Amino acid sequence: MVKGILKISPINKILISKYSLIAFFLTLLLFFSLFLKAESFAVATRHYLATDIGMKVLEEGGNAIDAAVAIAFALAVVNPSAGNLGGGGFMLIHLSDTDETLSIDYRERAPQKSFEKMFQDDLGNVIKGLSLNSILASGVPGTVSGMFYAADNFGTIDIKSLIQPSIDLAKNGFVLSDFQAKNLNKYKIKFSKNKESKEIFTRPNGFSGGEILIQQNLSRTLERIAQNGKEEFYSGDTAKKISNFFQINGGYLSLEDLNQYELRILSPVCGSYRDYKICSMAPPSSGGIALVQILNILENFELKEFDHNSERYLKTLISVMDYAYKDRAKHLGDPDFFDVPQDLLTSKKYAKDIYQQIQEKKLPSKANVTIVEGEETTHFSIIDKWGNAVSNTYTLNTAYGSGIIPTGTGILMNNEMDDFSSKPGYPNAYGLIGSEANKIQPKKTPLSSMSPVIIFQDEKPFLITGSPGGSTIITSVLQEIINVLDFQMSLEESSKKSRIHFQHLPDILFHEQFDESLIESLKKEKKLLNRKIGEIHSILLKDGGIEAFSDERRPDGKASSVYK
Ligand code: DON
Repeated sequence: MVKGILKISPINKILISKYSLIAFFLTLLLFFSLFLKAESFAVATRHYLATDIGMKVLEEGGNAIDAAVAIAFALAVVNPSAGNLGGGGFMLIHLSDTDETLSIDYRERAPQKSFEKMFQDDLGNVIKGLSLNSILASGVPGTVSGMFYAADNFGTIDIKSLIQPSIDLAKNGFVLSDFQAKNLNKYKIKFSKNKESKEIFTRPNGFSGGEILIQQNLSRTLERIAQNGKEEFYSGDTAKKISNFFQINGGYLSLEDLNQYELRILSPVCGSYRDYKICSMAPPSSGGIALVQILNILENFELKEFDHNSERYLKTLISVMDYAYKDRAKHLGDPDFFDVPQDLLTSKKYAKDIYQQIQEKKLPSKANVTIVEGEETTHFSIIDKWGNAVSNTYTLNTAYGSGIIPTGTGILMNNEMDDFSSKPGYPNAYGLIGSEANKIQPKKTPLSSMSPVIIFQDEKPFLITGSPGGSTIITSVLQEIINVLDFQMSLEESSKKSRIHFQHLPDILFHEQFDESLIESLKKEKKLLNRKIGEIHSILLKDGGIEAFSDERRPDGKASSVYK
């Protein structure tokens, strides 16, 4: 037979045509599945206007990082309690091209003039409120630097056009929801202490839902930033306005501090949980280490065989949280200043030891502290059609930060200095205590609980999630992860499940709605406090589909997805 020529019998011909038909359909299927994937994208944020802005960026061909930058600037206008230019946060990014996951730490740094006992009186007592509501409460803001870094290094669209929608929203105003109007009214006293805050964020008879909130000075500041770049904020007119204001009013934050602000690119903390890989923020966040540690311990339990939110299940979570928060207080702080034993805390062996102690019913020892309410920070999750993902949490710390706006800027300043340990063992706004690891030092970053998370299945983003809530961020995100991974819940189902929070100290179990009998039984062991826990904004990429969901614990959030 001559090479290359095949003699085909009639029966083979039928077989070949059958196989080629199957092959043809398989190719078609593959083509469509690629096509489908190529057209899926989603955004989940705290405010519908920010979500719409992010979706528009993605629809017009921008990537997840472009959308993140546009959203972050938009939230600074439409969600002034947490969205910000005067604060900081963490952005976790997964780049699909290189399969790389990295994080930007653009959190606040302590001004150079700060010192360990700056919030204590001569007798060594902590002066209440100084780290939260005074001119000393602010760290050097990092948000503008973080957004420019993200756009310059990973974005595809000119940052000016990403900022433009926010300029328009600040200049022309946006409609306040009932929730926002009430929330602004609630903080009237805070705003009244600062001239510009009072002008912008208070009305003699209070705000009502439906009213338009215009922020002229903020729009001008945003315009200058769009025009002059991040230098505007760190050495330009805006920097001078901020530093002059701090100097005149007895603050420490200086022009030099702004000039010298530096963000950090950090490797995320990653661990494995059953068949998944989980990545979150490394110190100066406690989130990544605590989540990996908790999941490592929980891996020893067959959780899906527990009844969800049963007594046995909740008690298991409580014990595990107890250990992780005790370690947080002792071992975690800014890694540039303190040697954090990350490898130990995230090791499977360490988790196994804790698991064994829990089995033997040993629990860490206690003391008593109080806790005040702090209720703002904001998270958003994004995936684009190429599979790039962004999980971003940023904040002013408590609602509207210190409430102080440096004159002429429209920028609310953070009160992140309260996240330092003002004195060993003295609780911050979230009842969190700290030690040497988190003491105040010049240029140091306060320890955070913000935990933007990306979970991977077969190396591809599977769940993108995060939450506000101070110390409850870690436990809220944890319960979202277990609900989805162990109990196979949809995001909507997961969000409707009650959550608990336990943080070692104070010795109080925070909880949402549970059966009376369960509450009675938990009450025998712990003091209980009923309150809302967390506000998750997630995206789930499961079985080739996409689900985006914004927690309904607070209004105004919106999740959008496109799947075609
Ligand atoms: O970084 C932290 O952990 C806090 N400053 C976050 C504050 C917060 O989440 C407030 N709440 N909802």
